[in-house]
Amino acid sequence: MSTEAVADIGLIGLAVMGQNLILNMNDHGFVVCAFNRTVSKVDHFLENEAKGTNIVGAHSVEELCRKLKRPRKVMLLVKAGSAVDAFIDSIVPHLEKGDIIIDGGNSHFPDTLRRTKELEAKGLLFVGCGVSGGEEGARYGPSLMPGGSPAAWPSLKPIFQAIAAKADGQPCCDWVGETGAGHYVKMVHNGIEYGDMQMICEAYQLLRDGLGYSHDEIGDIFDTWNKGELNSFLIEITRDIMKFNDTDGQPLVAKILDTAGQKGTGKWTAISSLDMGVPVTLIGEAVYSRCLSALKDERVRASKVLDGPVGQKFQGDKKQFVYYLGQALYAAKIISYAQGFMLLREAAKEYQWNLNYGGIALMWKGGCIIRSAFLGDIKNAYVKDPKIESLLFDPFFKEALSTAQTGWRFVASQAVQLGIPAPAITTALSFYDGYRSSHLPANLLQAQRDYFGAHTYERLDNRGTYVHTNWTGRGGNVSSSTYEV
Ligand SMILES: *[C@@H]1O[C@H](CO)[C@@H](O)[C@H](O)[C@H]1NC(C)=O
Ligand SMILES: *[C@@H]1O[C@H](CO)[C@@H](O)[C@H](O)[C@H]1NC(C)=O
Ligand SMILES: *[C@@H]1O[C@H](CO)[C@@H](O)[C@H](O)[C@H]1NC(C)=O
Ligand SMILES: *[C@@H]1O[C@H](CO)[C@@H](O)[C@H](O)[C@H]1NC(C)=O
Repeated sequence: MSTEAVADIGLIGLAVMGQNLILNMNDHGFVVCAFNRTVSKVDHFLENEAKGTNIVGAHSVEELCRKLKRPRKVMLLVKAGSAVDAFIDSIVPHLEKGDIIIDGGNSHFPDTLRRTKELEAKGLLFVGCGVSGGEEGARYGPSLMPGGSPAAWPSLKPIFQAIAAKADGQPCCDWVGETGAGHYVKMVHNGIEYGDMQMICEAYQLLRDGLGYSHDEIGDIFDTWNKGELNSFLIEITRDIMKFNDTDGQPLVAKILDTAGQKGTGKWTAISSLDMGVPVTLIGEAVYSRCLSALKDERVRASKVLDGPVGQKFQGDKKQFVYYLGQALYAAKIISYAQGFMLLREAAKEYQWNLNYGGIALMWKGGCIIRSAFLGDIKNAYVKDPKIESLLFDPFFKEALSTAQTGWRFVASQAVQLGIPAPAITTALSFYDGYRSSHLPANLLQAQRDYFGAHTYERLDNRGTYVHTNWTGRGGNVSSSTYEV
């Protein structure tokens, strides 16, 4: 081995996430070799942020690979998409069998699936690693979700688990599963983040418009919630946002245009849930709510012509409402996570991943945006019963929903009465009531399909046999049987 091989890992991409991960690895005693396509960035980094550390630099991909100990580990933190493929192509000629490429960007899981297969075919190992926690997390402890070639994990584990956030004394990083599992789990994490944020926004609107509370008062309510079962990073920052005044002493949040942007990971989760036939309704509503918010001009015009309650205030006991709203948020959150884990279970079947659900809950418990006390309860549920059908069957969550549902139903019906949209809170309740129904009206749906399309149906008293009924008593079939619904 060349004496030049000094570094434990190489990292490509010196934007803020990349720089912070390098500094984090350095803090934990690993020697990192840094590279950026614009090589002046490497020198600048070494002379500034990395000054006085053990970090080394490279001015070419070839030099980077030469400076790495075997098996070589090269981590990419570059823009998702074609840049990842281009870098992989440029690194591969400088690698040998058993070397590892890690993609730490926000890649879409089908790309990770493909790249894992392509690189494994060349005798290399590939890992798609979800990284959450933003800049701060990257620097002091992110949540890391690595998946791909399992043989890569033993060499990565000491580095990744050292730099990851810790929850209950354990690293928020563990092996997720094969091929695209790491990026899939990161995608679902982001989808759940969309859902959590949407529910919080609904609570905010109910408190602001339905109860007439000031932003300062709403901040106090979130502060109280943050001390109980809703304790989480997102509730905490919402409290701080409510309390943040602009230079004129008015709450800054009230001055922000109400159209939400999105980068696509929530949408990917919703699309995957449709592909897989899993009712991940809350995340779906959260994505659509952002879409609806983006129709600002159209909404302004509609607000002038469409009838409905406007500016109505809740007339009852406001303290009681706030208590109930806390229950509604908690219940909707349980449903959202139960749906998210249902999706993971189906994806594991579809893609043959061995997912460790308790481990995933632990990876999300610290470091990342959805970190919360609640994820500890999810971890416990999976530790008790790793094969549990749904979180809703876990005694803890079953009981929690039983307790919370008085408030949940109250808030949902009040929102409807007051004309305040609460799509996440209400869709969660509809899902819950549907999930606990042994009989849904889909019998009628099957009858309709058979009536107009001769799609056939099963009888309750003769399952497994498909029959068609001559519903009209007229000659011939009513419509073409090629019409699919
Ligand atoms: C190089 O560094 C810049 C920031 O200084 C970053 O925006 C860019 O993504 C990096 N690119 C690559 C390919 O290394
Ligand atoms: C923000 O302004 C409100 C009055 O509009 C005031 O009650 C509150 O204390 C201010 N908050 C902070 C953090 O200064
Ligand atoms: C449906 O029933 C009517 C009346 O009995 C009959 O004339 C017709 O042939 C039937 N159609 C089919 C497709 O069996
Ligand atoms: C009506 O539809 C059934 C079911 O698809 C089919 O078996 C039958 O041959 C059709 N009858 C006629 C008259 O087209």
